[in-house]
Amino acid sequence: MLFNLFSKNPKNNTDSSPYLTLKVREIIKETPDATTIYFEQPEPHLDYKPGQFLTVIVDINGKEERRSYSLSTSPFVDPFPGITVKRLAGGLVSNYLNDQIRPGKKITVMKPLGNFTCDYHSKHQRTYGMIVAGSGITPVMGLAKSILVNEPESKVSLLYGSRSEEQIIFRDRLTALSHQFPGRLEIIHQLSRPADSWTGRKGRIAGETVRTFAESLLRDRPSDARFFLCGPNELMETATNVLLALGVDKESIVSENFYKEPEVIEELHAQEAAPIHKQVTIVLEGETHTYEVAPGKTILEAGLDENIDMPYSCQSGLCTACRGRLLSGEVSMTEDAGLSENEIAQGYILCCSSKPKAGDIKINIE
Ligand SMILES: Cc1cc2nc3c(=O)[nH]c(=O)nc-3n(C[C@H](O)[C@H](O)[C@H](O)COP(=O)(O)OP(=O)(O)OC[C@H]3O[C@@H](n4cnc5c(N)ncnc54)[C@H](O)[C@@H]3O)c2cc1C
Ligand code: FES
Repeated sequence: MLFNLFSKNPKNNTDSSPYLTLKVREIIKETPDATTIYFEQPEPHLDYKPGQFLTVIVDINGKEERRSYSLSTSPFVDPFPGITVKRLAGGLVSNYLNDQIRPGKKITVMKPLGNFTCDYHSKHQRTYGMIVAGSGITPVMGLAKSILVNEPESKVSLLYGSRSEEQIIFRDRLTALSHQFPGRLEIIHQLSRPADSWTGRKGRIAGETVRTFAESLLRDRPSDARFFLCGPNELMETATNVLLALGVDKESIVSENFYKEPEVIEELHAQEAAPIHKQVTIVLEGETHTYEVAPGKTILEAGLDENIDMPYSCQSGLCTACRGRLLSGEVSMTEDAGLSENEIAQGYILCCSSKPKAGDIKINIE
């Protein structure tokens, strides 16, 4: 048995729990700053969609830290699930995972989550435009492999920004994939700080580059184009605006945010209506908890203060780990980027970004 199922507490959980423990199988250094951590396949096998992420829970200096990492593997292709972690200057968990993890180590994770995914059909004849930079390649790697094997008539075009040649994550593997699926995977590298010897595209990916890239895909199969964006917020905003201006439907653009600047979160909170003090009830894995949320606190923060083991990771409204369904009452949610429109319509909220607003607030967390 390679993993244990624990109950609500990540250290001690059961079958219905959002947590599981995975055993590290192999470590691959992708670039000087990025490492793929492959896990042994648990029994039953890890159930995930390409493009989803795991929330890694590690103890560093006696404190529990949680961070989300996209699965860079495909359940249709790769025998073992893996995440790829890019080191961030001064970053606590990304450096720990790059430096301290060895095969055999057991790591507690939250089960896969996320909406940066795709529906596949062998009859699809789509063009997929992937616009990514840096570690944004990780979920797209799993998506691209899955599309290439599941949709023989679809094509993938990747516009991929990196700092330098040695920082290109999965460079050789992408080239190998393009040989394995001739004419179906186009890769355009662009480097922001290339060496003099680099003869390819240079500079950061700007609006004009996105426009040229998207226009060529839309000429090919205008109604069957889908776009996946993952990278710095500025790139994703620019790319979204360019795609919308070119007439691409909102529903055909899927993006994944890895990070939100603290100033942006503060600004969102500053725009909120006057905070109120209110009691909320949450149902977590069948158990009911009622507690007070003080003004200015989120429903997640107040719940954690009460030592309720609510699931969470990014605490910025991006990862959906804290997702719950509002059964009654009203909340004000400052960030819903991680939720799909369908989830919002069904009443799902993110507890890390929600504060009480009105009524008898009851939330079910599955
Ligand atoms: C859904 C999702 C999927 C993700 N997938 C991946 C992945 O596949 N690979 C990967 O490497 N990372 C991924 N991330 C980012 C990852 O979760 C961490 O944010 C990142 O590794 C930094 O954590 P840290 O502990 O090293 O940095 P911290 O110690 O938390 O922060 C160090 C400094 O960097 C800033 N910072 C934190 N995160 C970022 C960031 N992402 N970009 C810029 N500045 C930042 C902080 O404000 C702080 O100043 C994902 C995030 C989300 C929400
Ligand atoms: S903890 Fe990530 S969305 Fe709430």
